[in-house]
Amino acid sequence: MKKIILFADTGIDDAIAVIYALKNPEVELKAVVAGYGNTDRDRSARNAEYLLELAGQESIPVIAGSTRPLSGEQPEYFPEIHGEEGLGPITPPIPAERFMNRTNFSQLFRIIKENQNELTIVNVGRCTSLAMAWFLSPSVMELVKETYIMGGSFLEPGNVTEVAEANFFGDPIAANFIGQNAPNLTIIPLNVTRKALITPRVVDFIDSVATTPLQQIIKPILDFYYEAYQELEPGIAGTPQHDMAAVMASLGIPELFSYTSKQVKVEYKEGYAEGLSIADFRPGVPECTGAGCVRIATEMDEGIFFVDVLRNLIRN
Ligand code: BDR
Ligand code: CA
Repeated sequence: MKKIILFADTGIDDAIAVIYALKNPEVELKAVVAGYGNTDRDRSARNAEYLLELAGQESIPVIAGSTRPLSGEQPEYFPEIHGEEGLGPITPPIPAERFMNRTNFSQLFRIIKENQNELTIVNVGRCTSLAMAWFLSPSVMELVKETYIMGGSFLEPGNVTEVAEANFFGDPIAANFIGQNAPNLTIIPLNVTRKALITPRVVDFIDSVATTPLQQIIKPILDFYYEAYQELEPGIAGTPQHDMAAVMASLGIPELFSYTSKQVKVEYKEGYAEGLSIADFRPGVPECTGAGCVRIATEMDEGIFFVDVLRNLIRN
């Protein structure tokens, strides 16, 4: 059983990651830290709270994270992909304003201290809240066992610019800081999560056997996401589940991912390469070892992914 704190910017693929974490009996979800990204911070937190309510898991805390990147700039949101409220066609019946002025890292630090050396952080949004936690209390953050982040794109194009992936581009200063400083760090990048596709046929199957309110929102939100993706990448076979893939990686499912180890930098200066994730993949360059090394996923087995998704999302 993995004790996980999920840092999310609760849009659609984040929601599927939350649902997966709630359904998978291998996961004990200890908290969701919800920050800005796909939508604003308050909607992101509200959406996380709504999912927990649907699951009857209101006792899992939603901690309101960052509202903007470390540069202080106004964030860009993505309503065309995640909907105005962040959950496609769904407007949760909870006012987003309830999270205003509620950033609360002390609650996060308390949970980490209560579960020292047992917690896995899975960060599937901008790295801002995670970097802030490290700035505020490195001694507490050192009690975290390991960290997984979904972000970056190695040797392949980005999704917000030619070179940059959304989570790294959204706060490259925070991404660079985490890439260089978080111990026991694993990155699941876009070039791998692009293969974590759920097709409309699978969505229909999940819906046909859905028995709970939590399972019943999978189809409406993924249908919306699929339509959006058809505009972005016409003909794509399904929707990429970037964030659920990172949660799966944290569970160490045998042979699901292959990895290499490299030092990682993220370009944080303004310019054409802003948000670019950099690691030395030149032929002949060996894997790194020791402090500063980051494990980077390089491949995903789509068959193992498919079986695990179905098994967990249709679970009663
Ligand atoms: C990542 O960016 C976010 O918009 C998605 O939820 C995912 O975490 C993909 O680049
Ligand atoms: Ca996300």
